Amino acid sequence: MSKPILILSLVIVFFSTNLFAASPRINYLLYCSGCHRPAGEGNPPNVPTLHGELGRMMSIQKMRGYLARVPGSAHAPITNTELTEVLNWMLEEFSADTLPEDFKKLSVEEVTAARSQILADPNKYRADYWKAYDFSDIEK
Ligand code: HEC
Repeated sequence: MSKPILILSLVIVFFSTNLFAASPRINYLLYCSGCHRPAGEGNPPNVPTLHGELGRMMSIQKMRGYLARVPGSAHAPITNTELTEVLNWMLEEFSADTLPEDFKKLSVEEVTAARSQILADPNKYRADYWKAYDFSDIEK
């Protein structure tokens, strides 16, 4: 193979493997873990955990969009596709045991639509359509 063709091939391989697109885990670490901590346990009562309860919420239609509507998600400087990947990754990583059996991953379309409706009062929305935060176990 001549040298220019070899170099061209390497360039094509390099770009096609998407080395520049950050993985959901990296985007989580960059844009979410500062508050929710790298292992997702949060910092209750100021920042909620991402473990357990989110999986159960996914059986309620209105709560699927909620994940993209909380300000931390909606305002993250990543694309709709990247946010969708981060949220699906987060659910599998931290709440796999509590996801409904028929759980369908969030789609880019639903995340895009939800994200444009940022919640001014996430706590009220959560309490209305799901439950208020319960920090009783950590306040003892
Ligand atoms: C500046 C701190 C901060 C950042 C950054 C942040 N969050 Fe949050 N997050 C919060 C707080 C505080 C809440 C509680 C609701 C509220 O007041 O916004 C919350 C709530 C949530 C909830 C709802 C949890 C529940 O049990 O109701 C989810 C899901 C969530 N965040 C995901 C994310 C994701 C994904 C990212 C990154 C793309 C992110 N957050 C970035 C602070 C943050």
